[in-house]
Amino acid sequence: MLKINSLEQYQSEYKRSVENPELFWEGIAESFEWKKKWDKVLDWNFDEPNVKWFDGGQLNITENCLDRHLDSIGDKVAFHWVPNDVSEKGRKISYRELHAEVCKFSNVLTRNGIKKGDRVCLYMPMVPELVIAVLACARVGAIHSVVFAGFSAQSLSDRINDCNCNLVITADGAFRGAKTIDLKSIVDESLLTCTSVKKVIVLERTKTEASMLAGRDVWWHDEMLNTSPNHQAETMNSEDSLFILYTSGSTGKPKGVVHSTAGYMIYAEYSFRNVFQYQADDIFWCTADIGWITGHSYIIYGPLLAGATSIMFEGVPTYPDAGRFWDIVDKYQVNLFYTAPTAIRALQAKGLEYIKPYKLDTLKVLGTVGEPINEEAWHWYNDEIGKGKCPIVDTWWQTETGGILISPLAGITPLKPTYATLPLPGIQPCLVDSEGNEILGNDVSGNLCVKYPWPSMIRTTYGDHERCRQVYFSTYKGKYFTGDGCKRDEDGYYRITGRVDDVINVSGHRIGTAEVEDAINTTDKVIESAVVGFPHPIKGQGIFAFVISSSSDNENYIEEIRAQVTKVIGPIAKPDRILLVDGLPKTRSGKIMRRILRKIASGEFSKMGDTSTLLDPAVVEHICDVYSQEK
Ligand code: WT7
Repeated sequence: MLKINSLEQYQSEYKRSVENPELFWEGIAESFEWKKKWDKVLDWNFDEPNVKWFDGGQLNITENCLDRHLDSIGDKVAFHWVPNDVSEKGRKISYRELHAEVCKFSNVLTRNGIKKGDRVCLYMPMVPELVIAVLACARVGAIHSVVFAGFSAQSLSDRINDCNCNLVITADGAFRGAKTIDLKSIVDESLLTCTSVKKVIVLERTKTEASMLAGRDVWWHDEMLNTSPNHQAETMNSEDSLFILYTSGSTGKPKGVVHSTAGYMIYAEYSFRNVFQYQADDIFWCTADIGWITGHSYIIYGPLLAGATSIMFEGVPTYPDAGRFWDIVDKYQVNLFYTAPTAIRALQAKGLEYIKPYKLDTLKVLGTVGEPINEEAWHWYNDEIGKGKCPIVDTWWQTETGGILISPLAGITPLKPTYATLPLPGIQPCLVDSEGNEILGNDVSGNLCVKYPWPSMIRTTYGDHERCRQVYFSTYKGKYFTGDGCKRDEDGYYRITGRVDDVINVSGHRIGTAEVEDAINTTDKVIESAVVGFPHPIKGQGIFAFVISSSSDNENYIEEIRAQVTKVIGPIAKPDRILLVDGLPKTRSGKIMRRILRKIASGEFSKMGDTSTLLDPAVVEHICDVYSQEK
């Protein structure tokens, strides 16, 4: 277990990790529980790509999260669960209780036909049973695929079908703020087009009426009844897949990012401990949803591997009011708090009166993740929440990286607002120019790549390894390409400037423009559409759609498009603005010039740049006119 305590130590560990990566990572791997030690620390090439960490090793990640803690901290709280509704009683779950529940549910999975290697889809609210189900999958060796419960039936069935899930775990419904979402009926609709699913396990949460299909659907509580709390964890190889998590890219179809067992485990714990400078009795709270990678790595795996006590929150930051986060921080004496810039901005906009009633004096470290944080939000977070006393860790990473790669270590790395600062030891980022040449030295900008493997990196995209190679390893030979633009300042500090591909970052969630266009294009009477991001005060980026249609009823039609996107993808992809236009700016070869649309969407008409290569330059003027009339 490596815990870095000073800047000097950071520098020496960093140096050591670059000079001898295998020795560095081997040292960290030693502190985990292995059924059998590895034969080889690292085997890799970025051409296929083929990356193997700790190959030949055998383990089960849940024995590292749970079993090994029982003797020392069995009665320690693993999770304080905080329900959506303030009047509902919370729950606390100790490591021993969590272990027993996971063992029981592992037996339930086995009884329902789940074997090592099967794919299990989880579509659930933020309740402890979601953690139990995730860990039970890992314990029996099934590959979990958690789908965020805000995705539509169609998105869910696409994800189920892509990896041929055998089982779905869901709930009757979910509470989110003032809303109740009927999860089971969404699952029912999605399963009309999924033939691989044989069983559905349904947790009772909202007591919403759920129709149960005989022979397919069973209740969680019935299954858990009279089930043994003893379970022998499956033996997994280091490189066996642990989970799939779908994420959007530049093309229409989301890709299933696959993570492996040992490397992911080691990195989740190592990064959690060092970035947040976690100490044995700290109360940690990551406000993400488990439907995203942040929840996987820093609600479930990282904290449990470290034996930490975490908060798990079912609700939303503004319900019943914008003081909810701070109420929970005070009530549970939270020390380490990790959230997203979009939440910070949303709460900032509500005003200081929601903070005033709270002390917030237990906070030691604040974290942010998901998108570049703007200067104003950074200072508000620092001054009003941290009271100027809590280091802010601006953590840069991605679904594909499995854990935080570039971030300050709390209290150790000198901070610069809006900078993710420096790579963790073991991480070798680099900047490249458009020709793929590495840009050396400081005070430079380029595309962010990583030139050496790290344990929790993506192994493949499920069912389509070529896509993984294409997207991440073919742009710059021998390097993993992140899709982000980045600056390295005169001190060697990294500042992420945002995506350089056709991906929009809405409230910290990645949405591919092609995916939204595909959804819009399924609306009746749409002829063509183009989607770009534009600056949004709360979401960071909003979704702007330019649509050509044959409809004449413009007002209702815009609502129809919005409803269609919600139906096809889910509410998170609903365009913020839709402009009905007669044409789109295209090159002579028919390619849409998004650069121009991005300028129009952000209202920057004067800096349009060169439009001479357009097929019909007049179309730009037309779109600007429509935009100005609509404003
Ligand atoms: C993209 C990854 C990693 C969990 C949440 C998002 C952007 C993420 C930061 C940050 C600037 C950031 C990048 C990245 N991003 N964190 N601290 N500063 N940008 O995971 O959906 O896989 O998205 O989010 O653009 O590529 P994701």
